[in-house]
Amino acid sequence: MKVYSKQAQTNNQNMTAQPSVYILGFGAIGSLLGVHLQKYGGTKVTPLFRSLGRLSDFKTNDYEVSIKPLYDSSLEILTERFPDASCPENFKGKIDNLIVTCKTYQTADALRPFLPYLDNNSNIIMIQNGLGVSEVLKEQVFNGGDLKPNLFQGVIAHGIFQDSEIKNQYNHAGFVDCKISKLPENDNDIIETFADLEALKQNELIKMLNSLDRSLGVVHMTYQELLLGQLEKFLVNCCINSVTSIIDCMNGELANCAGPIFQSIIEEAINVFHTAYKPLFDYEDIYKGAKHGQLPKLNVAGRLNVTTMLENTMHVGCVVNGGNSSSMRQDVLNLRETEIDYINGYVVTLCKKFSLPESNAKVNRTIQELVKLRLKLNQTRKAGQ
Ligand SMILES: NC(=O)c1ccc[n+]([C@@H]2O[C@H](COP(=O)([O-])OP(=O)(O)OC[C@H]3O[C@@H](n4cnc5c(N)ncnc54)[C@H](OP(=O)(O)O)[C@@H]3O)[C@@H](O)[C@H]2O)c1
Repeated sequence: MKVYSKQAQTNNQNMTAQPSVYILGFGAIGSLLGVHLQKYGGTKVTPLFRSLGRLSDFKTNDYEVSIKPLYDSSLEILTERFPDASCPENFKGKIDNLIVTCKTYQTADALRPFLPYLDNNSNIIMIQNGLGVSEVLKEQVFNGGDLKPNLFQGVIAHGIFQDSEIKNQYNHAGFVDCKISKLPENDNDIIETFADLEALKQNELIKMLNSLDRSLGVVHMTYQELLLGQLEKFLVNCCINSVTSIIDCMNGELANCAGPIFQSIIEEAINVFHTAYKPLFDYEDIYKGAKHGQLPKLNVAGRLNVTTMLENTMHVGCVVNGGNSSSMRQDVLNLRETEIDYINGYVVTLCKKFSLPESNAKVNRTIQELVKLRLKLNQTRKAGQ
């Protein structure tokens, strides 16, 4: 059983006070979580904006945000007010619980101004696509002093986007789930037992997110379960997000023609994962060696192999979501930065981290470069108009 810091386990000494959470990155996902936590979780939510200017934009809508459940027309629009919203220039207080929902590449810069308000008992959950943010935070943000907050990870499968006309309304297009887990402190010790999981249920941040089990399908699970789901979602994103951006097409248009490129992306990434996530691929032996009922059963080899992942990507990406235009393609079309360095680019990062030959990530590096090329080309064309 892992020994978590006392606070990571029990962080609940304010049990009688209303729990409170800050949200850094109050866009689509941040607003979805904030509105649900305040309405159904009994939690006080404080959005954190990047500047006084952005805070003042928020004030023009009377600090209100609405979520329209597009996935079910019988449900009402949810609206909540967040009058204590803040920003680095006027922030006061201490951050016990923080949800980070800015884009992956924005995280380090967004977090830095709030470091003085965190301590080693603070809980921080990153709820983002892609992989690699926790490594960046450990290397670039929590690197100097003694500050080592408790880090958690969320993998959200809901789909939500800002309304094109009503700027403080977000349209909740797809209801799926949100998986959450504590991140391991040591990369070589990633296996959590059911007893570890039970101890973490007393953590204040986990408690407040668990209160959304019905309204947002939040599920608290062991890290190995989360990681397996995260890697599966990551592989789908490595194929769908980047290829639709480069080719400039709807997801469904790739259904009959993208098999070979998807296969190359997946094959290469899984090969790198075998080194980078060795304890996950060794899980069957670990499971067999553990006492009965101590660990969840997981079919890692059955789920994380090229054939299954190729079928899964085609089905989830091109059939179930065939009518979608991927978020990365939307970013490229709207001339915004993409999260490519934390999607296909993360396979390249892993090769460096584990001293694998550069050629082990040549397909994913080329895809990463082509997405950057497509964005630059679109920006250059726009500038020339
Ligand atoms: N939307 C979805 O359906 C969906 C689904 C699954 C996963 N995800 C993932 O969830 C994450 C968030 O996506 P999203 O769609 O919610 O993005 P988003 O709507 O762009 O929201 C990101 C927010 O972060 C804010 N931000 C950026 N830099 C900041 C800073 N320095 N300080 C404070 N706030 C800052 C942005 O505000 P500014 O306007 O000031 O830049 C923006 O409001 C991404 O990793 C995405 O891939 C999204």
